[in-house]
Amino acid sequence: MYGLVNKALCEMITRGHGDATWERIRAVANVDVEVFISMDSYPDAITYHLVDAAAEILGEEVPTLLYGFGRHWVLNTAAQHYGHLLQAGGRSFREFMLALPNFHARVALMMPQLVPPEFACSDVAERTLKLHYRSQRPGLAPFVEGLIDGLGELFKVAVECRRLVDESEGAGHTVFDVSWSKAA
Ligand code: HEM
Repeated sequence: MYGLVNKALCEMITRGHGDATWERIRAVANVDVEVFISMDSYPDAITYHLVDAAAEILGEEVPTLLYGFGRHWVLNTAAQHYGHLLQAGGRSFREFMLALPNFHARVALMMPQLVPPEFACSDVAERTLKLHYRSQRPGLAPFVEGLIDGLGELFKVAVECRRLVDESEGAGHTVFDVSWSKAA
């Protein structure tokens, strides 16, 4: 994954727990990269090792950590560094969800080595839809849930996101039932 993902993870952890904790996590993960370059590509294994080590050291479950990272990504990383992309993604939560299937195509214009997630929407109504998520990377459904909740917060709507079909059950992709309130 691009370095900006590992960089954002580092930023979330140092902000909440300090530099020394991040250094311990990096040591446990056996990652010798001291500073990640946002636009360089790194093996996915580095990210997985950092996430596993962070969960171990912080005493959290991996899905809980990934969920928190999803929220952090939207509310801090993306808001700070990729505001223009977020804005182009839609003016409301609903618009953003409907545009999500094409979102990373725009990201890929800046990051040609991107291996993006795939999203599709079905059963679309005024305040509910099914979100289909496919990825070459296992175990990231809780990350998606954090991203969706973060987007809800960004657009000031109360979101409920229920996992219907789970990739880990062998379905090949994950389906979320997403519903939301009127904007505040
Ligand atoms: C706002 C700016 C965003 C940028 C710049 C961005 C960029 C990226 C990058 C660089 C990766 C790592 C993939 C790679 O390096 O090959 C990634 C992964 C991912 N992104 Fe985004 N993204 C953004 C927003 C979002 C949003 C809003 C969502 C969903 C709601 C999302 C869902 C995901 C997921 C689930 C992954 C994990 C990869 C996978 O499932 O295979 N991203 N994104």
